[in-house]
Amino acid sequence: MQTPVSLIHFSPTGNSRTVAQTMAAAIGAVKDTLDLTLETRPERVYAAEDFVIVSAPVYGGRVPQVAMERLARVQGTQTPAIVVVTFGNRDYDDALLELADWAAAHGFVVKGACAVVGRHTFGEIATTRPDSADRAQCEDFARRALAAEPLSLEQISGHRPYKDGGKGGKFRPTTTEACTHCGLCVRSCPVQAIAEDCCTIADTCISCFRCIRSCPVQAKECVSPDYLAFAPMFTQKLAARQENRFFLQETK
Ligand SMILES: Cc1cc2nc3c(=O)[nH]c(=O)nc-3n(C[C@H](O)[C@H](O)[C@H](O)COP(=O)(O)O)c2cc1C
Ligand code: SF4
Ligand code: SF4
Repeated sequence: MQTPVSLIHFSPTGNSRTVAQTMAAAIGAVKDTLDLTLETRPERVYAAEDFVIVSAPVYGGRVPQVAMERLARVQGTQTPAIVVVTFGNRDYDDALLELADWAAAHGFVVKGACAVVGRHTFGEIATTRPDSADRAQCEDFARRALAAEPLSLEQISGHRPYKDGGKGGKFRPTTTEACTHCGLCVRSCPVQAIAEDCCTIADTCISCFRCIRSCPVQAKECVSPDYLAFAPMFTQKLAARQENRFFLQETK
């Protein structure tokens, strides 16, 4: 049977969106999408008949603060849900527990929780992930979660109080002369940090690198001395493949 799935995601560079869409396709079809990357003050109530997949990246071991703020007026009505975080091959620390706690406190019944590796924003880490093996695991997990019992959140790794994190990074993109002033990055910056001149970037930038990845003429880059020193070192440190983690309570 095809299950209609509602997606809620914050996903500046697309990993969290891709994983959620892969899961949705495995169990049914996407009914609607709440894109927290662009919707800054959404209000939404989901019904008990809905099935929701909520996904977000890990920033410093936490869910990005901006994503948590945008989730504040999103509510379930005993709505079954899968919670997903994607992380860049380092660790997800307390982020998955944080997102599961949010879901339980907002009227969702958590049927499954998972942390999936995606390409890291910085350096050249896990550049091909999520790959076909990750996608197969996610598909299998989504089918099992649909039929699973409610998950006891105590099974999810992580600690309360959560570690300090979720704030975004210190690296700032710059703009080259190749910029055509098309305005795409201005419109799609999750925190509206790029001024109308398409170049000036405010301190509210969270270093998500969405502007760098999505510029059609590769005019956005990060070439600050601190980033150029950090990126290769970080790439080398996180070279070993990390596995995904899946939590569910199978029906007996
Ligand atoms: C500011 C910042 C902090 C990050 N912190 C972590 C982290 O603590 N652990 C990790 O493994 N990856 C970390 N990452 C990488 C992202 O979690 C990873 O690339 C994620 O899949 C991006 O999701 P998205 O494509 O949906 O935006 C961080 C990325 C950024 C921009
Ligand atoms: S997306 Fe690229 S070309 Fe378009 S305004 Fe931004 S930097 Fe310039
Ligand atoms: S300006 Fe900063 S916050 Fe905005 S898209 Fe670029 S990296 Fe992300």
